[in-house]
Amino acid sequence: SKITFSVIKADIGGFVGHSSVHPDLLKVAEKYLGEKGKDLLIDFKVSHVGDDINLIMTHKKGVDCEEVHKLAWDTFLECTRLAREYKLYGAGQDLLSDSFSGNIKGMGPGVAEMEFEERPSEPVIVFMADKTEPGAWNLPLYKMFADPFNTIGLIIDPKMHDGFIFEVMDTVENKLMKFSSPEEIYDLLVFLGAFNRYAVKAVYNKKGEPAAASSTQRMNLMAGRYVGKDDPVMIVRCQNGFPAVGEALEPFANPHLVSGWMRGSHFGPLMPVSLQDATPTRFDGPPRVVALGFQLSNGKLIGPQDFFADKGFDRARQKALEIADYMRSHGPFEPHRLPLDEMEYTTLPRVMEKLSQKNL
Ligand code: 13P
Ligand code: 13P
Ligand code: MG
Ligand code: MG
Ligand code: MG
Ligand code: MG
Repeated sequence: SKITFSVIKADIGGFVGHSSVHPDLLKVAEKYLGEKGKDLLIDFKVSHVGDDINLIMTHKKGVDCEEVHKLAWDTFLECTRLAREYKLYGAGQDLLSDSFSGNIKGMGPGVAEMEFEERPSEPVIVFMADKTEPGAWNLPLYKMFADPFNTIGLIIDPKMHDGFIFEVMDTVENKLMKFSSPEEIYDLLVFLGAFNRYAVKAVYNKKGEPAAASSTQRMNLMAGRYVGKDDPVMIVRCQNGFPAVGEALEPFANPHLVSGWMRGSHFGPLMPVSLQDATPTRFDGPPRVVALGFQLSNGKLIGPQDFFADKGFDRARQKALEIADYMRSHGPFEPHRLPLDEMEYTTLPRVMEKLSQKNL
């Protein structure tokens, strides 16, 4: 029978500012999930990247399961109580609604889920990012599943040779589009390149089996006000018809530019880091990505393996820091600062108003 892999995340208060999660909150989440989820979940892990708490859960209830979503919601509420007591920064920040209404999507937290038949060996990577948004996965997902210069398996593995299907979300219109790779990659890239609006929601192989799933919420559009960046998560299945673990990690050896960073309003490099270094600090960044590897065993999460702790990513980090210096040197100028219409908050209307008074 099928296993469901659910990753649900939220920022319910930063310690200190927006840099990390207080360890006591992780303990609260662990205890709560352990007690309240014992009949529902097969297994779970509580983790974090920067100020976002990530609940990694396996169960048999399928995607969009109300009970599982409510469990995650209640876990975040429980953590929020402590976050309020400690007066952590932005306590309850990502919980946009007062009460749970059946499905956690559209309520603030990010959700990535997939349901599949567990293979004889099932390696899975959970990618978690902070200080950026779901479109940050577009370039790495393209490389993993469509670029043979990244993924040699597309050429030499008979099980990958037919290519993959990309499901792309228009986060403004809330519409899904499908593209078949390699046949339609030029069409696909028209959208993937515009990562502020279009984000890969899922990737399937040509038999329709799920290969990758990401969180594609746009919280600022739901809330209609500044609520920080969405800080996305993504699940990728590896090996045997899917990218090898090393092929799934390889795109992050080049720290590509993503939007987010300070006040959710700047471009900066996505720096791959270990869990220990998942504390965006310089100018509230640079944006971070952590990769946790698990072997599934009848739904049990054997792991994690903290992949980006590997020395092989030292040069990527070095490069990210150099790019960070360069981008920072532009201060409030584009293209370090995002274009006006993409910034998370702005003083433009007020400044315009003041000027129009002066010029009367
Ligand atoms: P090993 O011989 O170390 O198992 O490596 C196999 C492989 O395919 C690495 O990409
Ligand atoms: P978060 O979305 O991680 O809370 O970041 C918000 C922010 O404004 C950082 O400067
Ligand atoms: Mg925050
Ligand atoms: Mg965050
Ligand atoms: Mg955020
Ligand atoms: Mg081996």
